Amino acid sequence: MGSLSLGFETLLVERADRVAIVTINRPDKRNALNAAVRREIVEALDQLRADDAVRVIIFTGSGDKAFIAGADITEFAERTPLQQRDVMAQRSVFDHIADFPKPTIAMINGFALGGGCELALACDLRVAARSARIGQPEIRLGIIPGGGGTQRLPRLVGPGRALRMILTGEMIGADEAYAAGLVDAVFEDAELRAGTLALATGIAAHSPVALRLAKNAVRAAMEMPLSAGLRYERELFITAFASEDKREGIAAFLEKRTPEFKGH
Ligand code: COA
Repeated sequence: MGSLSLGFETLLVERADRVAIVTINRPDKRNALNAAVRREIVEALDQLRADDAVRVIIFTGSGDKAFIAGADITEFAERTPLQQRDVMAQRSVFDHIADFPKPTIAMINGFALGGGCELALACDLRVAARSARIGQPEIRLGIIPGGGGTQRLPRLVGPGRALRMILTGEMIGADEAYAAGLVDAVFEDAELRAGTLALATGIAAHSPVALRLAKNAVRAAMEMPLSAGLRYERELFITAFASEDKREGIAAFLEKRTPEFKGH
């Protein structure tokens, strides 16, 4: 496990072979997302996008209490609507994550609240420690989710469950989140890191080209009518035939060996 890049104040970025782990590192503030964290996540993603050796990204929070306890509420205190509009005029960190071409996994190690839940929603997969607590508590502050919670959450769990979380502001536990489809796996707390790394490493062994096309196709399913989505899938399927990785994957199967994907 090595440190990948230096110079971040609010993040730790480590590498475990082909997997990068981005840890939001403000444990004394429960890893709340302030302007610096948002900016640095975007910078880290720019680095990780360009690094062909990195094939899967894991996001997590430092310490044993929180994944991310939401937006940094202190930044909201004196902000006017016009100032908030200026802040939100930039492309959001959530959209950067959602549009990132490589697979992303939220490793939810504690409280994932507000923007923390929304950051996890922007990832491709969410895994949680058994003790994790997940919620959209903005309603308790007299505001609403603004990082995709009202849009991505109902697409994942249906409008009823989403509204229950958003209108009550109550947190749910990892098992309930799993039953709702909000998280894709639950690990015992002590197993979270190893279990998530095993999941990520398994994904990272596949063709980066195919991973990118698969992610792109499934993401499109959220936005397209079925007929257009099926046409789009067919085009991406045909595109996959242009890759060296396709040649290698099929040759390896026929030769009864493990493929070595190069990512082109
Ligand atoms: N923004 C800014 N600061 C936050 C924060 C947030 N979203 N969440 C926690 N903190 C800060 C606390 O103010 C406290 O700071 P202090 O030590 O300077 O007083 C520190 O983090 C520890 O928080 P604390 O509440 O003492 O920890 P806890 O473990 O008892 O509880 C939470 C953790 C996450 C349940 C609780 O902090 C909480 O409810 N946070 C707000 C969650 C929220 O509403 N998020 C949505 C924002 S839109």
